[in-house]
Amino acid sequence: MADIRQAPRDLIDAALAARDKAYAPYSKFHVGAALRTEQGNVIAGCNVENAAYPEGVCAEAGAISAMVLSGETKFDEIVVVGLGDVACTPCGGCRQKIREFTGSDATIFIINDAGETLLTLSREQLIPHSFGPENLK
Ligand code: THU
Repeated sequence: MADIRQAPRDLIDAALAARDKAYAPYSKFHVGAALRTEQGNVIAGCNVENAAYPEGVCAEAGAISAMVLSGETKFDEIVVVGLGDVACTPCGGCRQKIREFTGSDATIFIINDAGETLLTLSREQLIPHSFGPENLK
């Protein structure tokens, strides 16, 4: 296995379980995401598509919305899993959403079906020179 920081087991399990719940009848590309909040809670999401295609919601966005609903607004790490062995890297919109609710020390893990870590990214690697809440001050 590559010499990179491995995704934590509890987030791997939560992301894979969330992927099983994906509603993706159009793309048939099932995605799961699981994040650990600042207070240590694990919260997951799956992609939810729509017949009006642009209305679909990504797995990361679902997890982030659930986190906010739970009363928290910061997370330290997130694991994302798509299908197969190709890294399911977050889309541009999800990178910005992840940016909003993380510190610069956050870690983004992309795993495969087998739970193996394909990519371990810092937030700066995920979304360099990002625009965030501080830019509005
Ligand atoms: N998708 C996610 O849920 N997260 C990603 O990081 C990339 C893409 C979803 C959106 C759509 O439902 C399907 O995967 C195919 O693009």
